[in-house]
This record gives sequence, C-alpha cells and structure tokens, in this order.
Amino acid sequence: MPPPATDRVIILDTTLRDGEQSPGAALNVSEKVEIAHVLEEMGVDVIEAGFPISSPGDFRAVQRISREIRNCTICGLTRANRTDIDAAVEALRGAACPRIHTGLGVSDVHIRFKLRITRDEALERGVEAVRYAKRFVDDVQYFAEDAGRAEPAYLHQVLEAVIAGGATVVNIPDTTGYTTPDEFGALIRGIVENVPNIHHATISVHCHDDLGMATANTLAGIRNGARQVEVTINGIGERAGNSSLEEVVMAIKTRHDHFGLETGINTQRIYPVSRLISQLTGIPVQPNKAIVGANAFAHSSGIHQDGVLKEPTTYEIINPRDVGVPDSEIILSARSGRAGLRHRLGELGYTLEEEQFEKLYQRFLYVADKKKTVDTRDLEAMVADEVQVFFEETYHLEHVQVSCGDHSIPTATVRIRGAEGQLFCDAAHGAGPVDAVYRAINRVIGEPNELVEFSVQAVTEGIDAVGRVTIRIQADEPVHENGVERRTFSGRGSDTDIVVASARAYLFALNRLIAARREEKG
Ligand code: KIV
Ligand code: ZN
Repeated sequence: MPPPATDRVIILDTTLRDGEQSPGAALNVSEKVEIAHVLEEMGVDVIEAGFPISSPGDFRAVQRISREIRNCTICGLTRANRTDIDAAVEALRGAACPRIHTGLGVSDVHIRFKLRITRDEALERGVEAVRYAKRFVDDVQYFAEDAGRAEPAYLHQVLEAVIAGGATVVNIPDTTGYTTPDEFGALIRGIVENVPNIHHATISVHCHDDLGMATANTLAGIRNGARQVEVTINGIGERAGNSSLEEVVMAIKTRHDHFGLETGINTQRIYPVSRLISQLTGIPVQPNKAIVGANAFAHSSGIHQDGVLKEPTTYEIINPRDVGVPDSEIILSARSGRAGLRHRLGELGYTLEEEQFEKLYQRFLYVADKKKTVDTRDLEAMVADEVQVFFEETYHLEHVQVSCGDHSIPTATVRIRGAEGQLFCDAAHGAGPVDAVYRAINRVIGEPNELVEFSVQAVTEGIDAVGRVTIRIQADEPVHENGVERRTFSGRGSDTDIVVASARAYLFALNRLIAARREEKG
C-alpha cells in the first residue's frame, strides 16, 4: 500500500446538508449561517452548506454562507446534471474557496432501479457532470453513491474516469450503512491500489450509521488511505444518521498512537457546538452518546467514583475540559448579580450584546427566584430560549394561567403581545392543561397546524428542576403555483412550570413558522 499523502485529516462537516435531512431538523437560513460561523470557529476545513437546487431556502443559505465564511471551503451538493450544477455555481459565487459536490450511484441497485440506465451511461453522466462543474470551479468533489454495495471493479473504473475528468476529491459513501469496518477499510485500500490516478485526488469517506458502524467505518477508511472524513455534529443525518464529528475527531486525537494523524479541530468547541445544534434542530443528544452525552463523563458506580477521585485516568480516557464540557459544580443565585452572571457566561464561552444580556438577566432573576440556585445546565437552557433565537419573534407570551386537576375541566387563559405591542387575551378548555393552553394560543394566533411531537425533560436533578419542552408542529406551506408542502417547525421552551414551558415552546414554533413564511416571500 502506498503511504498516505499526509498526516492531516480534512474534516468536511455536512450537518447543514446531510444532517439537516434528519426528520424534523428543518433550520432557517439565519440558523444555518450561525452554525456555519461556529463550524468555522471550531476549525472545520470544509462546510457542506446545502443542496442549492433543492429549495429557495437552501439556495439562500449556501449563498449567505459563501459570502460570510472566509476560512473554510464551502461546498454545495448537486445531482449529476447541468441545472443542479448551475444553481450551485450561482449560490457559491462569493465563496473564498468554492467546491461543487456532484455525483451519482455506482451500485447496480441504484443504477438499475433508481437511475434506470446502464453502467456505461451512469459513468458517462458522471464524467460529463465533473467536466461541466470544472468549467466554473477548480475544486470538484465526486460522490459515488452507494459505493459500499458496488462492484469494486466498476467503482474503480468510475473513479479513474472522474479523476481524469478533473475531480479533486472522490467521496466513497456507505450510503446505506451496510458495510463492516474490515469490508469498508478493504474497499478504500482497493481504491488506493487499483485506481491508477488516485494520487491526483483526495479520498473522502461518508458513512451512515444504520448498523451502528459509521464511526468505525470512517476510522477504517482513514487507516487505509482516506484523508477526508464527512461527518455531522451529534451524528445527525438521514435515517440513523452519519458518523459524528466529535467521535471521529476525538478517536483520532485520543488514539494518536494508533492513527498517527491530526485534524485542525479545536476540540474545546465540541461540547458548546453540540448543544447549539441540538437546540436549533430540536434533536436531543442521547444521554449515553459518546463524547457529548450528559453521561459521557458521569461516573455512577461507587468503585468508579472512588477510582476517579484518586486518579481521573483510572476511568477517564478523555479530560472533559478537552471537549469543552463545563464544570457543572459552579452555581449562581439571585445574589450573584449582573457581574456574577456576566463572568460565568464568559467562562462558558457566550458573548452577548448588552440588550441580550439584560433580557437574560431578567430571566435569570425569575428562575433564581423559583429554584434558589442556578447551575450551568439551567444557564444553557436560558441562553437557548433568550439568545439562540435566529428569527424575528412576532408574538411574545406575557402571561399564562391554568386551572386543572381531578374532576375539573382544564382551562387556560393566555395573554400574548403582538409585534406592534398590541395585547391579545383569550381562554379555552381542553383535554388537559397543555391542550387547553395550545387551544387558547390558537384562538389568538389562528395558524392551522398539527402538533406531531411533544417531549419534556428535566434540565437538572431535583424536584424544583427547570423542565425543558421540545415540540414539533407541521403546517401546509404554499409552494410554487398552487402547490403545498407539509413542513415541520420545532419549538423549545423552559421553565420550572412545565405548562409555562409548553406554552413557550408552542409560541416559539409558531413564531418560527411565521418567520419562515415571511422569509419565503422575500
Ligand atoms: O449518503 C450519501 O451517499 C450521500 C451522498 C449524496 C454523498 O449523502
Ligand atoms: Zn449521506
């Protein structure tokens, strides 16, 4: 096997493209731009910013990210046709380093049943797409979709042809998450050994997690010669998701003895970015998730606690600080004042404008009054509600009051402030307190929608904990002429009273829906 070209692994983050394909993850343009900025800050090399032809929102997101991000390559996805490529070229105009990511299927099941063409036709179409994209940008990445289930000899033939056509990166996706690490590693080694011009391109790996092997497959890929990995924050993505940035990066760092490789990621940004993505997409991080789960550094058994107290490395292979996990022992109270809150927010890496800080401080006093002590997780929930909001709020919840209980009719009254300061007050009854609140809000706002998901989680331990509600609503949105598209909007809200948190979450989702409609109209 020829030696790998370099010991640096390029990180392509596809949270904004494959990650956004997670059911219900829908992000608006401003949220995507914010995510692009934090990815840049974190040291990601390539941001796959979207699929420009797929929707006007995706197009605008790629366009704004291309204009604002200066230190990363910005990549736009296309199918292997001129219309898609033209849209990507247009959206990427303004990028410091634009990349077009085009390609099509290489497995027989894709060629025969999805594309309904022959292998030769698929190869020709791929080469033609690369040549066409090359007229506009130097950097063209080719994806050989479903490479994990393709016949290697045909895959080699395609790769040789697209590299000859000008592809600078060849992406080998295990699209269906079917392969095992030894198989996927052998696939990459086979490419290194059998594609004569492979040294003119970087091999990229893009693995899905259908069998829970995405990260292992990605690492097997780099062990065998791949030098770009395609990953998402928290592993979000189509179906079971993609291999996760935090797992791949921390495996490379922690096991430097094994891989002998480096990435450009500032690992201390991992935890805050993971939380931001979870907040904005409404997709929670499972507690036992490697690196960023709430339990990733929690030691519950007495034997383990004893060991860690004596010497952390007895049970910890990663120092939590290396991935930016904040010290949750530090607590604040109402007496901490503005200075204390400001100092702690700074330590946690939040930089707030004065107006945002004042809003947050008022919320802090409200929570501190109810639960006496406020820890890092409470602060994160407040920041999510008050600061990490990337759309214009039309309606603001002023007051909610509920009467409910055994043998009574749950009834809710809400007071909502509109964009021009007007006050609306209404009441409704329902099957339960949350239903009653949602009905009362509907009477004020009157936006038809369906609640498709509702979950509540305690932010911290204890009976006085802040409850965090995450919801998803769906609404039919007008598209093109006379068409409608069912779209999903997530909402979140927190409070020590979970009915209030539910009201906040619902209003958040409705405001997001209204903002998206406004954005769509331009
Ligand atoms: O999984 C996949 O094959 C993809 C390609 C579009 C790269 O996401
Ligand atoms: Zn994918």
